Amino acid sequence: MKIEDVGRPGIDLAAPDWVRHDALKTWVSQVAALTRPDSIVWCDGSQAEYDRFCQDLVTSGTFRPLNPAKRPGSFLAWSDPSDVARVEDRTFICSIHKHDAGPTNNWMAPDEMKTKLRGLFDGCMRGRKMYVVPFSMGPIGSPLAHVGVEITDSPYVAVSMRIMTRMGRAALESLGATGEFVPCLHSVGAPLASGEKDVVWPCNKDHKYIVHFPEENAIWSFGSGYGGNALLGKKCFALRIASTMGREQGWLAEHMLILGVQSPEGRKSYVAAAFPSACGKTNFAMLIPPPAFEGWKVTTIGDDIAWIKPGPDGRLYAINPEFGFFGVAPGTSYQSNPNAMDTMRSNSIFTNVALTDDGDVWWEGMTDQPPAHLVDWQGQDWTPDCGRKAAHPNARFTSPASQCPSLDPDWEKIEGVPISAFIFGGRRSTTMPLVMESFSWTDGVYLAATMGSETTAAAAHKVGEVRRDPFAMLPFCGYHIGDYFDHWLEMGHRVSNPPRIFCVNWFRKNADGKFLWPGYGENMRVLEWVVDRCAGRASAVESPLGWMPAEADLQWGGLSDGVRAGFRDAMTLHREEWVRELVLHEELFVKLYDRLPKEFVLKRELLLAALWRAPETWVPRAA
Ligand code: OXD
Ligand code: MN
Repeated sequence: MKIEDVGRPGIDLAAPDWVRHDALKTWVSQVAALTRPDSIVWCDGSQAEYDRFCQDLVTSGTFRPLNPAKRPGSFLAWSDPSDVARVEDRTFICSIHKHDAGPTNNWMAPDEMKTKLRGLFDGCMRGRKMYVVPFSMGPIGSPLAHVGVEITDSPYVAVSMRIMTRMGRAALESLGATGEFVPCLHSVGAPLASGEKDVVWPCNKDHKYIVHFPEENAIWSFGSGYGGNALLGKKCFALRIASTMGREQGWLAEHMLILGVQSPEGRKSYVAAAFPSACGKTNFAMLIPPPAFEGWKVTTIGDDIAWIKPGPDGRLYAINPEFGFFGVAPGTSYQSNPNAMDTMRSNSIFTNVALTDDGDVWWEGMTDQPPAHLVDWQGQDWTPDCGRKAAHPNARFTSPASQCPSLDPDWEKIEGVPISAFIFGGRRSTTMPLVMESFSWTDGVYLAATMGSETTAAAAHKVGEVRRDPFAMLPFCGYHIGDYFDHWLEMGHRVSNPPRIFCVNWFRKNADGKFLWPGYGENMRVLEWVVDRCAGRASAVESPLGWMPAEADLQWGGLSDGVRAGFRDAMTLHREEWVRELVLHEELFVKLYDRLPKEFVLKRELLLAALWRAPETWVPRAA
């Protein structure tokens, strides 16, 4: 976004000799003139620079070094209690026409928003350093990668960006002197008066704005220092802006993990899977197959975002644009996800988890027995009986992907990996079966578009409600969601061999509120069926909604009869629940009426008709 000349910043603007990009230098000087930082730091991405910034954060009190014998090279940060999650109600898509943002995004006219933001950014970096952070989303040199530059007054953001992206000199040099980059402007919105002492987590309690200008590919974020609000390469660039770029350029930017599955015979397939926030995406991306799957291997390419493009052979290829994991800590343990636990053994930043007496970290679910004493995420003494959570439910670890034991050897392949299947999953205690395969690409797009999920703590909204979350992209699509559905339908026609589309639900419960399916590593049984279906090696039963495995179509070695009974319940379709579900689809469709693909209206009718023809309760049985 252009900033008109507001004068000279009055500080040293000299850039290092490796900065040869004149448009970047101009933007930096304009931002400095507006925001008035004390100095400018051009980030080269080196280890020495990272260590220096971490030391500064320790000195300022934002970081607490963890015990080097327990957690080498790692730090703990506690945020302001008002700044703990993405702020969806403060997130805006400022397209020129309101209609292009669609009914699922907040919108404001770009000129009005720019006027408001200029007022907020005016002098907002006084008393602070301004960091210029060049970064590549995707392996440098990949035809699927894109470069951004984040200007931020938060050293916490600068060090987190070095873990989460390929940050520094090499990213900028890949642009040459004139290459295009996405400008990402960020401020915590907490200027310091001369001599004023800083707080450990500066942010702006009154004003938060996470703003995207899709026609200019620009991002402005004000007032928050936390996660997706502040690490602008992630949700803001790699999803909201990238989804608009993908629509124009014929590719997809998706809220998907990517994993590889290798059979004992050496057959390898890749799967991309979309789940709403905090539905165990990182666990699925790092799944360890159970003992009955000897010789099978699951490898990790990414845990959150996939950029997907047609390759020369007519298949879809995907890269993980990120370089690290920003995972939800609570619930992560050596039982639920040993690979994540090993990834974060060192060189990691922990935010809003609890501190143990021996200088390590702890969160709910990490161990069966909580420690007898902790300091909680708000700096207060904590004991197991105190009635408070030790870690914030949206506490995070930030760790380099390179430390992940299950990392796929091809995770940095510049052409990406070929995708055989898309999996869509929500958190549903009823209605949705454990797994099914769509009859066609169009049917699969319908199922993904109408996905719902019970909400969790990753964003500031009421926990436990079912919200429609099409493609798990509701808070992340940078344009009208009806146009997004259309783009997906188009992409299926554009490739000669589109991936198959599956839906899963690991979270179905019985009448007593107990999960019907054990989940975690046992999800391998479903994953095997998925990849075998793609290879034409697994059979399925035709249900009113899609193809489903009969009990005999999954491997059951090592599981009890009780789990098999749970499977049957988790696969059962109840007409009554589904009719209710289809009414909710209609509610979504009404909101999108004029940009809703017509196929969806017809598909909904066909689903209703199929449900009425099937028995009231339907269970997949082999013929
Ligand atoms: C995330 C999210 O942090 O989806 O990945 O909220
Ligand atoms: Mn996510």
